[in-house]
Amino acid sequence: MQRYIKLLFKGAESNIYLTKWYNKKAISKIRIPKSYRQRKLDDDLRRRRTISESRMITMAKELGLRTPYIYFIDPYRAEIVMEFVSGKRASGVLTSSICFEIGKFVSTLHLNNLIHGDLTPSNFIVNSKVTMIDMGLSFYSTRKEDKAMDIRLFKEILTSTFHNSYTEFFEYFLNGYRHVNSEELEKILQRIEDIESRKRYAIS
Ligand SMILES: Nc1ncnc2c1ncn2[C@@H]1O[C@H](COP(=O)(O)OP(=O)(O)OP(=O)(O)O)[C@@H](O)[C@H]1O
Ligand SMILES: [Mg+2]
Repeated sequence: MQRYIKLLFKGAESNIYLTKWYNKKAISKIRIPKSYRQRKLDDDLRRRRTISESRMITMAKELGLRTPYIYFIDPYRAEIVMEFVSGKRASGVLTSSICFEIGKFVSTLHLNNLIHGDLTPSNFIVNSKVTMIDMGLSFYSTRKEDKAMDIRLFKEILTSTFHNSYTEFFEYFLNGYRHVNSEELEKILQRIEDIESRKRYAIS
């Protein structure tokens, strides 16, 4: 039985608690029930997402990416207990070199056909290194369109949050991406162009 020390964060889907795992500082991420979903469906969904997220975090680690160690999962409580990563959320301390690192992360995921699904700087923690903490919406896909959506979301967030430095940040992100895998990037960027021009066309 877990002893929760403190509720750290209330997300859209989960509560994040500070806890202990064998005397080690740890995080407990518990997906909270949604009353607008039918009970059985909701239980299934939370259980599946719990299993999927812990699998993705472990898979990313096997690819050599820095993610939290998973200590324990309880699908029935929709709970993941993982390493506590100290540092600041990248969204609050973003720099070009952090964007470069995030680009490397995403490129490695994409090279292995993993799509992040929620690529925002707040899902990375920065201390002397960068750690990817949230893979709650990650999935497997070989489609360039899905890879393009990851990059596009990141670009959109940079554009809307960092008015003065988004061009430089995005450039560094792409450099990081290219550093790992340059082959696919041009095609993916072309997809983004297509999506954006379709959107412009639809609006005008
Ligand atoms: N392993 C961890 N170590 C330290 N802090 C963490 C860790 N996991 C989560 N946090 C903190 O809690 C916040 C929310 O976590 P997370 O992004 O996983 O939840 P969420 O966005 O609500 O989840 P989801 O989008 O999957 O529903 C993070 O931005 C971070 O500040
Ligand atoms: Mg998150």
